[in-house]
Amino acid sequence: MTKIAPSILSADFARLGEEIRAIDAAGADYIHIDVMDGHFVPNLTLGPAVIKALRGHSKKCFDVHLMISPVDPYIRDFAEAGADIITFHPEAGFHPHRTIQLIKSFGKKVGISLNPGSPVSLLAPLLNDIDLILLMSVNPGFGGQKFIRETLEKAEKVKELIKDRSIELEVDGGINPQTAKEAIAAGIDVLVAGTAVFQGGNYQANIQALRG
Ligand code: DX5
Ligand code: ZN
Repeated sequence: MTKIAPSILSADFARLGEEIRAIDAAGADYIHIDVMDGHFVPNLTLGPAVIKALRGHSKKCFDVHLMISPVDPYIRDFAEAGADIITFHPEAGFHPHRTIQLIKSFGKKVGISLNPGSPVSLLAPLLNDIDLILLMSVNPGFGGQKFIRETLEKAEKVKELIKDRSIELEVDGGINPQTAKEAIAAGIDVLVAGTAVFQGGNYQANIQALRG
């Protein structure tokens, strides 16, 4: 079944611990945490100290999406803060394979994220060493943007590349009940959703609506 990963970017930042307990209880599979540096993407969010403080609020998988450059100097901090999956953008550093090895050296799962403008070919040399591919269906930086439809065609190409490897395919940005349906039909394993989970306050119904 498709996993749902609520993005806490749309949560109430004044009550983050409580919000994480609420999405956990509402059936979230992963907790998606967006880390932005105001340099790789035009927004600033949170860092390892906040993740560490949140760790005690849920046992679910912390799916940490790093939108930062450089990446390597911060991997230890995110690993020790309690990230389970650490996803980075290959353009954020010169040596993505080295970054993968670094993440693995802390016993964490590795994700690679592709922006809407990033070619699928970036994945090819990394495929045997990763656990997750995160396809951005908006340009990273902000919640509440419109789903970019070309992501679905890209997903098909990525699935062909993955073949029978155990790599999860995740999509992030502009997911709502309608786009979720299309993404599920395209074979996406994990749906990230911020606005669609947190709006209105009924997290359980919102998560259920994304499962189709
Ligand atoms: C965007 C982030 C997303 C974002 C999704 O840069 O990576 O995780 O929070 O938000 P929605 O679901 O509102 O598009
Ligand atoms: Zn994200």
